[in-house]
Amino acid sequence: MKTLYVLVLAAGQGTRMKSATPKVIHEMAGKPLLEHVLHAVRALHPKAIGVVLGLGREKVQSVLEERGWDKLGYIVQSRQLGSGHAVRMAQPWLKSKKGTLLVVYGDTPLLTTATLQRLVEQHADSGHAATFLAMDIPNPSGYGRMVLDPQGFLERIVEDKDASSEERAITLVNSGVACWDIERLLKVLPRIQANNAKHEYYLTDAAKLLRDLGERVGVVTTSDPDETHGINNRVDLARAEAILRRRILEQWMREGVTIVDPETTYVDADAVLAPDCRLWPGTMIRGASRIGANCEIGPYTLMEDAIVKSGARVGPFARLRPGTIIEEGARIGNFVETKKAIIGKKSKVSHLSYIGDAEIGDNVNIGAGTITCNYDGFFKYKTTIEDDVFVGSNANLVAPVRLGRGAIVAAGSTITEDVKANALVLARARQMAKNGWAKEFRGKQKRSKHG
Ligand code: UD1
Ligand code: CA
Repeated sequence: MKTLYVLVLAAGQGTRMKSATPKVIHEMAGKPLLEHVLHAVRALHPKAIGVVLGLGREKVQSVLEERGWDKLGYIVQSRQLGSGHAVRMAQPWLKSKKGTLLVVYGDTPLLTTATLQRLVEQHADSGHAATFLAMDIPNPSGYGRMVLDPQGFLERIVEDKDASSEERAITLVNSGVACWDIERLLKVLPRIQANNAKHEYYLTDAAKLLRDLGERVGVVTTSDPDETHGINNRVDLARAEAILRRRILEQWMREGVTIVDPETTYVDADAVLAPDCRLWPGTMIRGASRIGANCEIGPYTLMEDAIVKSGARVGPFARLRPGTIIEEGARIGNFVETKKAIIGKKSKVSHLSYIGDAEIGDNVNIGAGTITCNYDGFFKYKTTIEDDVFVGSNANLVAPVRLGRGAIVAAGSTITEDVKANALVLARARQMAKNGWAKEFRGKQKRSKHG
């Protein structure tokens, strides 16, 4: 197989998104659009990946770097004069390279590695100057139409805006994905002209120019038009997200996860789930969350960059924020919020609690309404609760504070100092009762009201 390089075109302004954020970093299933494309192409093990960026490129670059993409080659296209012009800007990057260039658009996030692989292989086997990925769709409007010759090779691509009414009737359209022989592409690239409705340099015109030189351009057709669904506006984005979400859920169901109601369950692309866990309706698993085997999550539960280990039960109506680790067999009940918190094995936080910046040992019981007071308006402080502690209902744990192993905290206490192991701690006013007082009081008040 020839050496493979990938070029991702992502400099378009994305005007139709009507957004201050560059189109390709809008998120889908918890990940920027561009990153979905990068994942699909990285799995082909190309020798290098170049990304063409334009307006807002600093923002795109910093998002990618933050998310661990450090080996990309960046190419700047400061004026968006068309996809052909974008590849022209990559000429210096391409110059010393030989082999196949796979060009993909940054706004088609549903592409799969399997389809790209098929395209790359067919291109390599054929020896053609270029090979396009096409799709046959009932409503081709907006897409470039593929005009084929009688042998089934590509003659040219005509953009929607430039097409005659006969050409508009063609249902075979350009996906935007194509393989090019680098040397032959570089030969025709400077000859692309902007004589079309949009006055842009179209990369697709390179196909016709190659043909004029006597070269052949092949076509691979995908059976799944969803794959090449391009995102131009937020309606497209929502549609793509729905398709991807379904794909992700089906993948996990095949891996042994029970999803009671796929319609109302959301799992981000980076989440990892073990077999025999069960997601109840209304559950959202966001970011790089992990769920172990035999867990039950939900209904109506939100997890974000959180880890739940095997046999744990979370929800209904729980919110696990980033940095949460729920150890094996632990239980998080309704209206509990956790953040940067470790909840030890078999420990229970069953109702109405906030546990933030905390480390809780094994077999701990946290009573209803317990709050870790972790913030003084300036800094965050940690609460440490050792194994076997019992915290009674409605306790406030004012951090920094430590409850020693086996201690018992009386209900309603506000704890401001460390508690020794096995101590009982009461930090509330002592109960006082005046017997008969209430009855006397009512009688007195009634008498003065009625006369
Ligand atoms: C393009 C194709 C069309 C195809 C469709 C599939 C061309 C000329 N047309 O149309 O045949 O059916 O995609 O979705 O290629 N870009 C740059 N710099 C530019 C212009 C565009 O980097 O100066 C990038 C964009 O970020 C985008 C891609 O190229 O990722 C395609 O550009 P776009 O304007 O979205 O083309 P379409 O009109 O969708
Ligand atoms: Ca597009």
